Amino acid sequence: MLHFTIELAHRAGELLRQGHENGAALVHTKQSTVDLVTETDLASERLIIDALRREYPDHAIYGEESGDVLPSSGPVWVIDPLDGTTNFAHGFPVFSVSIALLVDSQPVLGVIRDPLRDDSFWAERGQGAWRNGQRMQVSSTAELGRSLLATGFAYDRATNPDNNLAEFSYFMPKTRGVRRAGSAALDMAWVACGWLDGYWERGINVWDAAAAVVMIREAGGLAMSYSGQPWRPGDRNMLASNGVQTMHDALVTGLRSARAGLPSLT
Ligand code: IPD
Ligand code: CA
Ligand code: CA
Repeated sequence: MLHFTIELAHRAGELLRQGHENGAALVHTKQSTVDLVTETDLASERLIIDALRREYPDHAIYGEESGDVLPSSGPVWVIDPLDGTTNFAHGFPVFSVSIALLVDSQPVLGVIRDPLRDDSFWAERGQGAWRNGQRMQVSSTAELGRSLLATGFAYDRATNPDNNLAEFSYFMPKTRGVRRAGSAALDMAWVACGWLDGYWERGINVWDAAAAVVMIREAGGLAMSYSGQPWRPGDRNMLASNGVQTMHDALVTGLRSARAGLPSLT
């Protein structure tokens, strides 16, 4: 199953890579002028769903562009066929494919494909996390002042005062940097492989996070919701770290202090 999913993410990634090379993506807007979908999102999702239906006809499938209600029991494939659509639509070379398997609402398998860097990240619960066949491990950075972090800003940022700017202003001067690369799945895969020390974001969806959560945990890190509980499908925010206690505590404390006055999120 893992082998099949790695191959599938690779094939979908090729579609993205070719689309990027051909340029001039056909872009449509979804709920606002900043929330986009391209023909490539749809083609990638179609490719993945068709293959999963053929291979696992009894499994449920929940894709970003076609999902309705996320089933809470049994095996469910969760797909982000193109994570980083805004980047893709502008030709900015950071985007990925993310495929996860949930069983009874628990993320148990995750594959993320970065076609431009030729990177495949995968993890299976209890079996470790891997990048191109090499074991992945989170970083050992223990202090905020020596950390490199990542975050993202949800599509409702122009209308919702809870727009992550308070958190960004808090962490940016206290760290070596905060990246906003534009693909949440890659932000989290890069925490799992130790290139980043932590990541936070409000407003993410299950398809952004499910595959990466398996990786972060298998690589020794923590994937929590803002409430401090382990992240579960349905949680719309994420605080991920390398799991080093001082580092994780600094992120929790920072987020809490930056968010004073903002609604508490589950
Ligand atoms: C988005 C990207 C972005 C994150 C947004 C996501 P999409 O996914 O992961 O980095 O900040 O929250 O919605 O729309 O490109 O699949
Ligand atoms: Ca996404
Ligand atoms: Ca997407």
